[in-house]
Amino acid sequence: MIDIHAHILPNVDDGAGDYAEGLAIARDLVDCGVEKVISTPHFLGNGPRLTPEETKEKTTIFQEKVDKEGIPLKILPGAEVFITVDLGKMVDNGEVPTLNETRYLLLELPLEKVPSFTENVFFDLKVLGYIPVIAHPERNADIQKNPNLLFSWVNDGIKVQINAGSLMGYYGKRARKAAKILLRKQLSHFLASDAHSPGKNSSCLRKGLKIVRRTNGKIRAKGLVENAKRLIENKELLPSEPSPYVPSGKLTGLVFGEKF
Ligand SMILES: [Fe+2]
Repeated sequence: MIDIHAHILPNVDDGAGDYAEGLAIARDLVDCGVEKVISTPHFLGNGPRLTPEETKEKTTIFQEKVDKEGIPLKILPGAEVFITVDLGKMVDNGEVPTLNETRYLLLELPLEKVPSFTENVFFDLKVLGYIPVIAHPERNADIQKNPNLLFSWVNDGIKVQINAGSLMGYYGKRARKAAKILLRKQLSHFLASDAHSPGKNSSCLRKGLKIVRRTNGKIRAKGLVENAKRLIENKELLPSEPSPYVPSGKLTGLVFGEKF
């Protein structure tokens, strides 16, 4: 399997703190069925970030360590890019690493809200020929309240990545509920680990896929795996048929009007 989102690169963000930790994450990913992983250190427009060149260089150095340890894992370059109003400009200047140097860009929203300029950034990226992949939207409070924000975005060509840990309840009940809805309504294209530290319980792709198979069927689980393969080759993803979420009860301040 291919994992498109992990903080495995040592000493660059809040992920692996050193090489030993990075190697421990690498072993865990392999144990969870991962053969290739895109290393996605946080890219903060107004803070710490690596250039595409630095990202590739650090990935190559870490790959050598992984190979030396005999861990059968291929590391590919990437970044998790925090949304800023001028992101299109930075991308146009060649400052922003994309996923394995493809047209797919892993985009992070703040957890508490969807910024007012989000759709402008989508537009800018689209004009430049890039495809945003929203990282773990099931963890965003606005999207938890209104998952249909994603319905219009997905119809407009935006892609969506869910965290395996969300399905396991690692980020709480609301994120799990939202992740399940996004799967059921075909408002999601990828499942990834978003691993930050060793420990398989919070991020194991194999466990996450098992939940998808059980709740959404084998075909859906296979589709998520296939899409990751297509992404690293810069290909079109599998076609999907998104549908809007209709809350079953009255909105009473509870997420989606449903009790957890
Ligand atoms: Fe992440």
